[in-house]
Amino acid sequence: MLAAAGYPHLDHHRARHQSFCDYVAHAVEVEGAIDHGALLSYLVDWWVGHIAAEDKLYRSSLTGKEAMIAKAFQSDDELDRGAA
Ligand SMILES: [Fe+2]
Repeated sequence: MLAAAGYPHLDHHRARHQSFCDYVAHAVEVEGAIDHGALLSYLVDWWVGHIAAEDKLYRSSLTGKEAMIAKAFQSDDELDRGAA
C-alpha cells in the first residue's frame, strides 16, 4: 500500500521493519542465551513506539489514494476483465 501510494519515507519504514525482524530472528536463534527482559522491553517499544506512533505517520499519505492502492492489488485477470 505504501509503495502504491508513493509514501516518501518507505525506505526508512522498510528499514525499521527489517531491523525488527533481524532483532527477533537473532533472539530466536540464540534462545539459550535470550534475555527475556530485554526482549520484552524491545517488543513493548516496538508496539508502542512503532505501531502506535510511526505507523500513524503514513495515514495522510494514503488518504485519498484508495483507488490507486486498490488498482495496485488487482490481479492481471481482474485488470483484463476491467478492460473488456
Ligand atoms: Fe510499520
